[in-house]
Amino acid sequence: MGTRHMDISEIWPPFALHLRSHDMELSPVKDADIPELAQIARGGVRRDGIEAFLVNWDSGTDEQVARSLAQYHWSTRANFTIDEWTIEFTVRVNGRAIGVQGVNGHRFPLTKTVSTASWLALPEQDRGYGTRMRRMIIETFTSYFGASRFDTAYFDGNDASRRVSEKLGYSPNGDRSVVGQNGTALTEHHMVLRSKDYVRTDNDLQVTGADAFRTFLTITT
Ligand SMILES: CC(C)(COP(=O)(O)OP(=O)(O)OC[C@H]1O[C@@H](n2cnc3c(N)ncnc32)[C@H](O)[C@@H]1OP(=O)(O)O)[C@@H](O)C(=O)NCCC(=O)NCCS
Repeated sequence: MGTRHMDISEIWPPFALHLRSHDMELSPVKDADIPELAQIARGGVRRDGIEAFLVNWDSGTDEQVARSLAQYHWSTRANFTIDEWTIEFTVRVNGRAIGVQGVNGHRFPLTKTVSTASWLALPEQDRGYGTRMRRMIIETFTSYFGASRFDTAYFDGNDASRRVSEKLGYSPNGDRSVVGQNGTALTEHHMVLRSKDYVRTDNDLQVTGADAFRTFLTITT
């Protein structure tokens, strides 16, 4: 038996994933990121209280928001299976945390489909970051993991979220009625982007940790 203990990213290969483009970096949320993310989410991340999430995690006291955020990120690791997984990436610009970009896969080796969701700290919104981080996910999952389809959704009235998807070439894909975080019924609009329709523009994307993640997810093609 060896005496060397394993590195945390050998135990949990998603932790080794790292995406960089220019001054922006995405890497799966680690416990060390949580205090910084809790700090930038203080007071909520939604302009004028518009509903953006199904779960009301960004309302309440600073402690409530921080614990809700921490528990959610722990839950994504605890509930991760090859068939159903969510990875949330801490998004940094010049080293400072600005928000979170999430990716969800359901039977991914077969469906080649992921869906995305994200948030940014209020002062970081409307500066193009939301579009850049989604673009990095689309290009990484297309080039390194063989994704052929990207789904996303926004609630009626969330124009920033809608615009990010539109700018990247997503098309409308129906809607449904859901109960949002404030407990009212809302229309959730779905959008879809097929990789074959995506126009690659990021020439600076650098990805590390992709091979170990492919093996972990049992991606063979
Ligand atoms: C949604 C979100 C991640 C988008 O990121 P972002 O960095 O703000 O988005 P970008 O700056 O890349 O693009 C925003 C686009 O929406 C447009 N926009 C923003 N607010 C708008 C409004 N009220 N009406 C119309 N367009 C609006 C911007 O003009 C921009 O489009 P343009 O480049 O054509 O001018 C971010 O705004 C956010 O975190 N919002 C709160 C949480 C949330 O809604 N998450 C998504 C849940 S589905």
